[in-house]
Amino acid sequence: MKKGIFITFEGGEGCGKTSHINALAEYFESVGRECVVTREPGGTSLSEKIRDILLKNGPEKTMSPRAELLLFEAARAQHVDELIIPALENGKVVLCDRFADSSSAYQGAARNLGEDAVERLNRFAVNGAVPDLTVLLDLPAREGLARANSRDNNAPDRMGSEKIAFYEAVRGAFLKIAALNPGRFAVIDSSGPKEETFSKILETVKDKFNV
Ligand code: TYD
Repeated sequence: MKKGIFITFEGGEGCGKTSHINALAEYFESVGRECVVTREPGGTSLSEKIRDILLKNGPEKTMSPRAELLLFEAARAQHVDELIIPALENGKVVLCDRFADSSSAYQGAARNLGEDAVERLNRFAVNGAVPDLTVLLDLPAREGLARANSRDNNAPDRMGSEKIAFYEAVRGAFLKIAALNPGRFAVIDSSGPKEETFSKILETVKDKFNV
C-alpha cells in the first residue's frame, strides 16, 4: 500500500527542474519528511546505463525513434520497481526529475510516435506508480534552450541537439497533457526569477499535501 508522496517535474530543456527539486527536497527534510531525489532516465544502476546510451553523442545518434522510446521505458520500468515503489511504500517523498509525461511529449508528440502507443507503454512501465502531483515548469522553448546551452557550454547531449521546432512541439504537448489532467498537474511559469518560481512551487505543494 502506497503511503508516500510522489511528485514529478516536467518541462523542456533548461526549464530549471534540478535546482527547484533540490530546494523542495530541503523543504521536505526541514519539516521532517524523508525525501528521495531521483531522475529519468536514470535513478538506478541499470537505468543510468540506459541513460548513457540514450543521451551520449556517439554512433547512437541515428537511433530509431521506436528503439529510443523502448529504452526510455525500460529505464523507467527498472526505476519504478527498484526505487520508486519501495520508497513510496516506506512512506518517503519521491521527487523525480522527469517521468512518463516526458515520453508522451518527446517521443509521442515531438518524435511523432503517437499518443496511444506511448500511453500504453507508459502504463506498462509505471506499474501503477502515478504521480500525486506533476509540476510542469513552462517557458518558451527558445529561452529554455538558451539557458541549457549556457549551462552545458554549448555542448548539448543527443536529446538536446534537435531543431527549435522539436522543442516547440515538446512544449505544446506538455501543455496539452496538463490541460487534460488538471487534477494532477500544476503549470508554473518558469521564465521569471528562480526565487519567484520556487515560491509558486512551494505554495502548490503546501496546499496540496498540507506540509
Ligand atoms: P534531463 O536530464 O532532464 O535533461 P535537461 O536537463 O536538459 O532537461 O533529460 C534528459 C533528456 O531526455 C531530455 O532532453 C528529455 C529526454 N527525455 C525523453 O525524450 N523521454 C523521456 O521519457 C525522458 C524521461 C527524457
